[in-house]
Amino acid sequence: MYGESRTLYFAGRAVSEDLAERLHARGWNIEYVNPAKLPRLSRHGKGVAAGIVDMTSSGFIKDIEALTALLSGYRIGWVATVTADHTDDPELCRLIRDFCFDYVTVPSSADRIVDAVGHAYGMVSLHDVASNDPQKSDGTEGGMVGNCEAMKALYRSIRKVAMTDAPVFISGESGTGKELTAHAIHERSARRSQPFVAINCGAIPPHLLQSELFGYERGAFTGANQRKIGRVEAADGGTLFLDEIGDLPLESQASLLRFLQERKIERLGGQGSTSVDVRIISATHVDMQTAMLEGRFRADLYHRLCVLQIDEPPLRTRGKDIELLADHMLERFRKDASRRLRGFSPCAIAALHNYGWPGNVRELINRVRRAIVMCEGRQILASDLELGDYVEAAPTTLAQAREAAERQAIEVALLRHRGRLGEAADELGISRVTLYRMLTAYGLRGKEERPLRVSGG
Ligand SMILES: Nc1ncnc2c1ncn2[C@@H]1O[C@H](COP(=O)(O)OP(=O)(O)OP(=O)(O)O)[C@@H](O)[C@H]1O
Ligand SMILES: [Mg+2]
Repeated sequence: MYGESRTLYFAGRAVSEDLAERLHARGWNIEYVNPAKLPRLSRHGKGVAAGIVDMTSSGFIKDIEALTALLSGYRIGWVATVTADHTDDPELCRLIRDFCFDYVTVPSSADRIVDAVGHAYGMVSLHDVASNDPQKSDGTEGGMVGNCEAMKALYRSIRKVAMTDAPVFISGESGTGKELTAHAIHERSARRSQPFVAINCGAIPPHLLQSELFGYERGAFTGANQRKIGRVEAADGGTLFLDEIGDLPLESQASLLRFLQERKIERLGGQGSTSVDVRIISATHVDMQTAMLEGRFRADLYHRLCVLQIDEPPLRTRGKDIELLADHMLERFRKDASRRLRGFSPCAIAALHNYGWPGNVRELINRVRRAIVMCEGRQILASDLELGDYVEAAPTTLAQAREAAERQAIEVALLRHRGRLGEAADELGISRVTLYRMLTAYGLRGKEERPLRVSGG
């Protein structure tokens, strides 16, 4: 029954002989955790484990911060052993309540502790099974709203890429939900109980990026009064999200590439290098093909980052989801209204569909929030959304209507076939050459195939 060895972390001074014997007999492989060397535990994460935190160990419980990091960071079912005195300490009570499955007041029988450990392990395993159940999908993923085909394909891609450790590259227009997708991947992955560290590569001045990413040692430069851990190291064991990667300055691209090749970092002013285990997700709204052609982005780095690719569908291609999202945002921000709102008027709904949404979901949120505050009636009107000009479908001539329909059909076909021109042209019933010509005419170039992608369908 206990043939398979399971890991039990023991944080404390020493396991009594009696307890160690019983734990071994039940298939537990005991690993000691030294709170002073917490980062070592970050390797854990590929499966679940149990843990005993011995709060009776003198000295150990003084460092509440280290203890909190230990108990909160990993997918481990913790059991605390305490003395009756400890349960009077509000700080320790909070730690036990927030992070432990159970506590045992010592002295107690070893069997009682072993049983509690088995139960804690079982509870963490249940959580693991539930959150990986592919049947559980309810049409949303990690707080994302949407039921259209493009979003369902996105949810499938998220689940697929979450199961591996390979780098993921998320491309999409501004405000489509790239960051939300990165979070959803992390939350679905085996690393979910470890850190998710985001860094906006475009927002940090180039001269600070190096130290921000890789950290520095005390005395590395004037003003470096103490060692600073970089973002890459802070993500050890978890996921590093490189947002706006297309804006990463060329000089920093070389050091990022070196890290991706060696998986080791060197702090500024440091002696040796440190191994770091992170899963890389990057995102950008920049057209990377153009950036590479123009020499703004290194192709070798791009190919390291873009092993798996996910494309966020633009809001204008999501059909009924536009209404679904608008309703969702209305519910979310309804409390900001000065009166009871009954929803969107027919003209507002027409405008939601006729408008092109260059700012995608973020723009939709802003317009709905504004409308909720400004609305003077019981229903939100197109004018409250500042979309009064979009109540009538824009095309007035047959030629314009045809053009709009063609443009949308091409965009959807390209998304469905992940930018593969041949397949999209087949579906549309036109030749590849014609499709290419239309892409140019409609300003859709750049949406055709890019290498190595898994997503979109
Ligand atoms: N499908 C969705 N359902 C609910 N909210 C969403 C959805 N997609 C995006 N959002 C919300 O829209 C906003 C923009 O999303 P996010 O920041 O993930 O986009 P982005 O693609 O990273 O944008 P940018 O390119 O501007 O950085 C956020 O507030 C996010 O919560
Ligand atoms: Mg973003």
